[in-house]
Amino acid sequence: MLKIKDLHAGYGRIQILAGVNLEAEEGQVTAVLGGNGTGKSTLLKAISGLIVPWNGSVEFDGEPVEGLRPDRIVRRGLVQVTQGKEVYPAMSVEENIKLGAYVRSDRQGIADDFERVYSYFPILKEHRKSHAGILSGGQLQMLCIGRGLMANPKMIMLDEPSSALAPQAVMDIFRSINRIRRDGTTVLLVEQNVRMALLLANYGYVIKDGVIHMEGLARDLINDDNVRLSYLGGTVADTTGAAATL
Ligand SMILES: Nc1ncnc2c1ncn2[C@@H]1O[C@H](COP(=O)(O)OP(=O)(O)OP(=O)(O)O)[C@@H](O)[C@H]1O
Ligand SMILES: [Mg+2]
Repeated sequence: MLKIKDLHAGYGRIQILAGVNLEAEEGQVTAVLGGNGTGKSTLLKAISGLIVPWNGSVEFDGEPVEGLRPDRIVRRGLVQVTQGKEVYPAMSVEENIKLGAYVRSDRQGIADDFERVYSYFPILKEHRKSHAGILSGGQLQMLCIGRGLMANPKMIMLDEPSSALAPQAVMDIFRSINRIRRDGTTVLLVEQNVRMALLLANYGYVIKDGVIHMEGLARDLINDDNVRLSYLGGTVADTTGAAATL
Protein backbone atom coordinates (compact mmCIF):
# COMPACT_ATOMS: atom_id res chain seq x y z
CA MET A 1 0.00 0.00 0.00
CA LEU A 2 2.93 2.33 0.79
CA LYS A 3 6.25 1.97 -1.03
CA ILE A 4 9.14 4.27 -0.20
CA LYS A 5 12.30 4.13 -2.27
CA ASP A 6 15.60 5.88 -1.58
CA LEU A 7 13.98 8.74 0.33
CA HIS A 8 16.24 11.69 1.18
CA ALA A 9 15.03 14.59 3.31
CA GLY A 10 16.24 17.14 5.82
CA TYR A 11 15.99 20.71 7.04
CA GLY A 12 17.81 23.52 5.28
CA ARG A 13 21.14 21.97 4.33
CA ILE A 14 21.10 19.38 7.10
CA GLN A 15 20.36 15.92 5.77
CA ILE A 16 18.39 13.63 8.09
CA LEU A 17 17.15 10.82 5.81
CA ALA A 18 19.86 9.37 3.57
CA GLY A 19 18.02 6.86 1.41
CA VAL A 20 15.18 5.19 3.30
CA ASN A 21 13.50 2.15 1.73
CA LEU A 22 10.32 0.93 3.37
CA GLU A 23 7.04 -0.78 2.48
CA ALA A 24 3.82 -1.06 4.44
CA GLU A 25 1.30 -3.74 3.49
CA GLU A 26 -2.41 -3.11 3.36
CA GLY A 27 -4.31 -4.29 6.43
CA GLN A 28 -1.19 -4.53 8.59
CA VAL A 29 0.51 -2.57 11.34
CA THR A 30 4.06 -1.67 10.26
CA ALA A 31 6.31 -0.34 13.02
CA VAL A 32 9.12 2.19 12.59
CA LEU A 33 11.50 2.10 15.55
CA GLY A 34 14.62 4.00 16.50
CA GLY A 35 16.20 6.18 19.17
CA ASN A 36 15.69 9.88 19.88
CA GLY A 37 16.39 12.16 16.96
CA THR A 38 16.99 9.38 14.43
CA GLY A 39 14.54 10.84 11.91
CA LYS A 40 11.31 8.95 12.57
CA SER A 41 9.14 12.09 12.60
CA THR A 42 11.07 13.48 9.64
CA LEU A 43 10.20 10.31 7.73
CA LEU A 44 6.48 10.67 8.49
CA LYS A 45 6.56 14.36 7.56
CA ALA A 46 8.26 13.58 4.25
CA ILE A 47 5.56 10.97 3.50
CA SER A 48 2.61 13.19 4.44
CA GLY A 49 3.92 16.28 2.63
CA LEU A 50 4.63 18.39 5.72
CA ILE A 51 8.17 18.60 4.39
CA VAL A 52 9.14 18.11 0.75
CA PRO A 53 11.49 15.16 0.16
CA TRP A 54 14.81 16.00 -1.49
CA ASN A 55 14.93 12.84 -3.51
CA GLY A 56 13.40 9.39 -3.85
CA SER A 57 9.83 8.21 -4.32
CA VAL A 58 6.76 7.68 -2.16
CA GLU A 59 4.05 5.56 -3.78
CA PHE A 60 0.71 5.24 -2.02
CA ASP A 61 -2.08 3.00 -3.26
CA GLY A 62 -0.31 2.66 -6.61
CA GLU A 63 0.21 6.39 -7.24
CA PRO A 64 3.21 8.65 -6.61
CA VAL A 65 2.53 11.21 -3.86
CA GLU A 66 5.97 12.69 -3.21
CA GLY A 67 5.95 16.46 -3.47
CA LEU A 68 2.14 16.77 -3.25
CA ARG A 69 0.61 19.25 -0.82
CA PRO A 70 -0.43 17.72 2.54
CA ASP A 71 -4.16 18.20 1.89
CA ARG A 72 -3.86 16.42 -1.47
CA ILE A 73 -2.21 13.49 0.29
CA VAL A 74 -4.99 13.43 2.91
CA ARG A 75 -7.54 13.30 0.08
CA ARG A 76 -5.72 10.27 -1.32
CA GLY A 77 -6.42 8.53 1.99
CA LEU A 78 -3.12 8.91 3.82
CA VAL A 79 -3.26 10.73 7.16
CA GLN A 80 -0.55 11.55 9.70
CA VAL A 81 -1.23 12.05 13.41
CA THR A 82 1.67 14.25 14.52
CA GLN A 83 3.69 13.83 17.69
CA GLY A 84 2.68 16.90 19.65
CA LYS A 85 -0.93 16.08 20.62
CA GLU A 86 -1.89 19.55 19.35
CA VAL A 87 -5.53 20.51 19.86
CA TYR A 88 -7.52 23.73 20.13
CA PRO A 89 -7.98 23.81 23.92
CA ALA A 90 -10.86 26.30 23.95
CA MET A 91 -12.87 24.34 21.38
CA SER A 92 -14.96 21.35 22.39
CA VAL A 93 -13.74 17.79 22.05
CA GLU A 94 -16.36 17.23 19.35
CA GLU A 95 -15.33 20.31 17.36
CA ASN A 96 -11.69 19.26 17.53
CA ILE A 97 -12.49 15.76 16.29
CA LYS A 98 -14.62 17.16 13.47
CA LEU A 99 -11.68 19.17 12.13
CA GLY A 100 -10.28 15.90 10.77
CA ALA A 101 -13.23 15.71 8.34
CA TYR A 102 -12.26 18.98 6.62
CA VAL A 103 -11.62 17.24 3.32
CA ARG A 104 -15.10 15.64 3.21
CA SER A 105 -18.67 16.67 2.60
CA ASP A 106 -20.53 13.33 2.92
CA ARG A 107 -22.68 14.02 5.97
CA GLN A 108 -23.71 10.42 6.60
CA GLY A 109 -20.13 9.18 6.30
CA ILE A 110 -18.96 11.83 8.75
CA ALA A 111 -21.71 10.86 11.21
CA ASP A 112 -20.78 7.18 10.88
CA ASP A 113 -17.11 7.94 11.46
CA PHE A 114 -17.96 9.98 14.57
CA GLU A 115 -19.64 6.85 15.92
CA ARG A 116 -16.62 4.78 14.92
CA VAL A 117 -14.29 7.14 16.82
CA TYR A 118 -16.57 7.14 19.87
CA SER A 119 -16.72 3.33 19.79
CA TYR A 120 -12.93 3.20 20.12
CA PHE A 121 -12.83 6.01 22.66
CA PRO A 122 -16.08 6.14 24.70
CA ILE A 123 -14.45 8.62 27.11
CA LEU A 124 -14.33 11.18 24.27
CA LYS A 125 -18.08 10.80 23.80
CA GLU A 126 -18.60 11.46 27.50
CA HIS A 127 -16.49 14.61 27.21
CA ARG A 128 -17.67 15.65 23.74
CA LYS A 129 -19.08 18.99 24.90
CA SER A 130 -16.12 19.81 27.18
CA HIS A 131 -13.21 22.01 26.21
CA ALA A 132 -10.38 19.86 24.83
CA GLY A 133 -8.07 21.68 27.26
CA ILE A 134 -9.39 19.63 30.20
CA LEU A 135 -8.37 16.26 28.75
CA SER A 136 -5.57 14.09 30.15
CA GLY A 137 -2.56 13.14 28.03
CA GLY A 138 -4.08 9.80 27.08
CA GLN A 139 -7.39 11.41 26.18
CA LEU A 140 -5.61 14.04 24.06
CA GLN A 141 -3.87 11.26 22.15
CA MET A 142 -7.24 9.57 21.63
CA LEU A 143 -8.63 12.85 20.33
CA CYS A 144 -5.74 13.22 17.87
CA ILE A 145 -6.14 9.65 16.58
CA GLY A 146 -9.92 10.17 16.36
CA ARG A 147 -9.41 13.40 14.43
CA GLY A 148 -7.15 11.54 11.99
CA LEU A 149 -9.76 8.83 11.49
CA MET A 150 -12.38 11.46 10.63
CA ALA A 151 -10.68 11.84 7.24
CA ASN A 152 -11.66 8.18 6.66
CA PRO A 153 -8.08 7.27 5.70
CA LYS A 154 -6.97 4.06 4.03
CA MET A 155 -3.80 4.37 6.07
CA ILE A 156 -3.06 6.26 9.27
CA MET A 157 0.46 7.14 10.44
CA LEU A 158 0.85 7.53 14.20
CA ASP A 159 3.90 9.30 15.66
CA GLU A 160 4.72 7.90 19.11
CA PRO A 161 1.12 7.66 20.29
CA SER A 162 2.12 6.06 23.61
CA SER A 163 4.83 8.55 24.60
CA ALA A 164 4.54 10.27 27.99
CA LEU A 165 1.37 8.34 28.93
CA ALA A 166 0.54 6.45 32.10
CA PRO A 167 0.74 2.63 31.79
CA GLN A 168 -3.03 2.13 31.63
CA ALA A 169 -3.33 4.80 28.92
CA VAL A 170 -0.53 3.10 26.97
CA MET A 171 -2.51 -0.15 27.00
CA ASP A 172 -5.69 1.65 25.95
CA ILE A 173 -3.92 3.28 23.00
CA PHE A 174 -2.31 0.05 21.79
CA ARG A 175 -5.64 -1.77 22.09
CA SER A 176 -7.34 0.91 20.03
CA ILE A 177 -4.65 0.64 17.32
CA ASN A 178 -5.29 -3.09 17.19
CA ARG A 179 -9.02 -2.43 16.67
CA ILE A 180 -8.33 0.21 14.01
CA ARG A 181 -6.33 -2.37 12.04
CA ARG A 182 -9.00 -5.05 12.55
CA ASP A 183 -11.58 -2.66 11.14
CA GLY A 184 -9.52 -2.37 7.96
CA THR A 185 -7.35 0.75 8.31
CA THR A 186 -3.67 0.17 7.57
CA VAL A 187 -1.32 1.58 10.22
CA LEU A 188 2.24 2.92 10.12
CA LEU A 189 3.31 3.18 13.74
CA VAL A 190 6.34 5.13 14.96
CA GLU A 191 7.19 4.11 18.53
CA GLN A 192 9.87 4.21 21.18
CA ASN A 193 7.92 1.61 23.15
CA VAL A 194 9.64 -1.09 21.10
CA ARG A 195 8.26 -4.03 23.02
CA MET A 196 4.61 -3.04 22.70
CA ALA A 197 5.04 -1.90 19.11
CA LEU A 198 6.56 -5.24 18.08
CA LEU A 199 3.88 -7.19 19.94
CA LEU A 200 1.24 -5.32 17.96
CA ALA A 201 2.93 -4.95 14.56
CA ASN A 202 3.19 -7.41 11.71
CA TYR A 203 6.48 -6.04 10.37
CA GLY A 204 9.08 -3.66 11.74
CA TYR A 205 11.85 -1.35 10.59
CA VAL A 206 14.65 0.11 12.71
CA ILE A 207 15.96 3.48 11.52
CA LYS A 208 19.49 4.62 12.36
CA ASP A 209 21.90 7.14 10.82
CA GLY A 210 19.30 8.15 8.24
CA VAL A 211 18.76 4.71 6.77
CA ILE A 212 16.92 1.49 7.59
CA HIS A 213 19.35 -0.36 9.79
CA MET A 214 17.29 -3.52 10.30
CA GLU A 215 13.92 -4.90 9.22
CA GLY A 216 11.90 -8.06 9.60
CA LEU A 217 8.75 -9.72 10.82
CA ALA A 218 7.86 -8.24 14.19
CA ARG A 219 7.96 -11.67 15.83
CA ASP A 220 11.51 -12.18 14.57
CA LEU A 221 12.71 -8.70 15.57
CA ILE A 222 11.44 -9.10 19.12
CA ASN A 223 13.60 -12.20 19.49
CA ASP A 224 16.62 -10.70 17.73
CA ASP A 225 19.66 -10.32 19.99
CA ASN A 226 20.63 -6.92 18.55
CA VAL A 227 17.13 -5.53 18.97
CA ARG A 228 16.95 -6.90 22.50
CA LEU A 229 20.28 -5.39 23.50
CA SER A 230 19.75 -2.01 21.86
CA TYR A 231 16.03 -1.43 22.33
CA LEU A 232 14.60 -3.86 24.87
CA GLY A 233 17.11 -3.34 27.67
CA GLY A 234 18.75 -6.68 26.98
CA THR A 235 15.86 -8.61 28.48
CA VAL A 236 14.03 -11.55 26.99
CA ALA A 237 10.74 -10.22 25.65
CA ASP A 238 7.64 -11.38 27.48
CA THR A 239 5.62 -12.10 24.38
CA THR A 240 2.85 -14.01 26.10
CA GLY A 241 1.35 -11.82 28.80
CA ALA A 242 1.31 -8.44 27.10
CA ALA A 243 0.28 -9.77 23.69
CA ALA A 244 -2.73 -11.53 25.17
CA THR A 245 -4.08 -8.28 26.55
CA LEU A 246 -4.17 -6.49 23.19
N1 LIG B 1 12.33 21.76 11.95
C1 LIG B 1 13.58 21.31 12.13
N2 LIG B 1 14.65 22.04 11.77
C2 LIG B 1 15.91 21.60 11.93
N3 LIG B 1 16.23 20.40 12.43
C3 LIG B 1 15.22 19.60 12.81
C4 LIG B 1 13.84 20.02 12.69
N4 LIG B 1 13.06 19.01 13.15
C5 LIG B 1 13.89 18.04 13.54
N5 LIG B 1 15.19 18.38 13.34
C6 LIG B 1 16.36 17.54 13.64
O1 LIG B 1 16.30 16.40 12.81
C7 LIG B 1 16.75 15.24 13.50
C8 LIG B 1 15.67 14.17 13.42
O2 LIG B 1 14.53 14.64 14.10
P1 LIG B 1 13.18 13.82 14.18
O3 LIG B 1 12.20 14.68 14.84
O4 LIG B 1 12.84 13.29 12.84
O5 LIG B 1 13.63 12.59 15.11
P2 LIG B 1 12.73 11.49 15.81
O6 LIG B 1 13.31 10.16 15.44
O7 LIG B 1 11.30 11.70 15.49
O8 LIG B 1 13.01 11.75 17.37
P3 LIG B 1 12.03 11.59 18.64
O9 LIG B 1 11.95 10.14 18.93
O10 LIG B 1 12.74 12.34 19.71
O11 LIG B 1 10.69 12.17 18.29
C9 LIG B 1 17.07 15.69 14.90
O12 LIG B 1 18.46 15.87 14.99
C10 LIG B 1 16.34 17.01 15.04
O13 LIG B 1 17.03 17.87 15.92
MG1 LIG C 1 9.72 12.18 16.58
